[in-house]
Amino acid sequence: MALYHYNRKQRLLLSSFAILFFSLFVFCHFRSARDPGSWFFQPTEGYRPGYSLQRINESLEWLSTFNRSDASTHHSVPVVSPPREKTACVGIVTVKRPLQQDLDTTVASILDTLSPEQRAALTVQVLFALSNPSDHPDYNQTWVTNVVDHVLTYDDVDAPGYIIRNLEKKNNIKKKSLIDYRLGLQSCYEMTDAPWIIMLEDDVVAQRNWYEQTMRSVQQVEDWRRQETIKDWLYLRLFYTEKFLGWNSEHWPTYLSWSVLIVSLCATAGIYTRRTIRSTQGVLTNSFLLVICFVCVPLLIGLFFLAGRVTWYPLQDGVHVMNAHGCCSQALLFNRENIPPLLEYFEHMEDVVPTKAVDSVIEMQAGRAELDRLAISPSQMQHVGAVSYKEKKKTWKWEGPYRVKGAHGVWSMGFEQAYGIHSDRWFDLGSPA
Ligand SMILES: *[C@@H]1O[C@H](CO)[C@@H](O)[C@H](O)[C@H]1NC(C)=O
Ligand SMILES: *[C@@H]1O[C@H](CO)[C@@H](O)[C@H](O)[C@H]1NC(C)=O
Repeated sequence: MALYHYNRKQRLLLSSFAILFFSLFVFCHFRSARDPGSWFFQPTEGYRPGYSLQRINESLEWLSTFNRSDASTHHSVPVVSPPREKTACVGIVTVKRPLQQDLDTTVASILDTLSPEQRAALTVQVLFALSNPSDHPDYNQTWVTNVVDHVLTYDDVDAPGYIIRNLEKKNNIKKKSLIDYRLGLQSCYEMTDAPWIIMLEDDVVAQRNWYEQTMRSVQQVEDWRRQETIKDWLYLRLFYTEKFLGWNSEHWPTYLSWSVLIVSLCATAGIYTRRTIRSTQGVLTNSFLLVICFVCVPLLIGLFFLAGRVTWYPLQDGVHVMNAHGCCSQALLFNRENIPPLLEYFEHMEDVVPTKAVDSVIEMQAGRAELDRLAISPSQMQHVGAVSYKEKKKTWKWEGPYRVKGAHGVWSMGFEQAYGIHSDRWFDLGSPA
């Protein structure tokens, strides 16, 4: 089917298509550069930190005023009459990390924008998960005791000391993470009466209005539950990465059916036009329609898929049911009622070989108990830990162009874009999508 088979009009149409396709290709190249599920994804664009840098700087500046020993007089926990019950307990488990600790950023960014009433409604607990806590570079820093409500070590949480020392010796980080996560969650559960328990890893940064938006979202979730729009729920996700929200292979029948449908529609439309409009008979010949339906249209469909799902269907602002493909346990808000069975399941899974990761155990429990999992979009937190000892490496060094990044691409593109300029973004809470 060489080009000279075609008449002038057909050649003109085909060249127009080529130009159109090329323009669309260039458009997608720029449009999808930040979509990690896209073929056009460019790491230097997608992982460029913007808003998170601003938040790290401003919150650390706030924290530094609590970093002098004479600062304890103006303790960040204000002297307003505290509500009888806490609204939320923030549990942070911290370990020693290669290269850099981000615990100060995590603690500072969840506290620096709170009003005195909001601060009083929160309990912040940090568990230093080391047999010898003073090995942690932040353990005896002045700000820790000045801003954290409960500074915990293994001695305070009834930890299986012998097992943990063994795991430390064997460098079994996976199993130790399971135990640590359980201890952190359990201490929030037991030491407070907060209905919401927020578990954070020690390398996240929060957006300025995280508290209001999270509390509004969780109220929305509770309303849905009362109206039975959703099932009972295990957690509300404050961080997710778009990386796993792309085209999913299990949906291939849907994708294929749509593609076949579109090709058939084009063929039908071509044949129908040729029959009804005589002047098109010279153009819409069989061989021309073949090229349109089996080359041009499939190329466009291919481009559509290459551009990435999040590019075409970004998550709307608000709360979503995310029972699949929600990744990573950096920041989760748990529903107190469903924590006891989760703790039991954690304890059970600690002895199961091969050891599962923390987020898998949480997902498995949600599946067993048939609980919904929800997520706030855009993410309220960003993952800024560059590396962790979970990677089995001999040495660690800074890699890539940015100091602030989510290791393994565990990064929220939405976080960087959503809050930059309009920090009080309009936030619509509709129905669960
Ligand atoms: C607090 O002070 C210590 C020691 O001077 C310093 O290393 C650390 O970076 C400070 N942290 C913050 C958050 O200002
Ligand atoms: C932390 O501990 C080290 C060694 O024990 C000590 O020299 C240092 O003064 C301590 N820093 C603070 C802020 O307490």
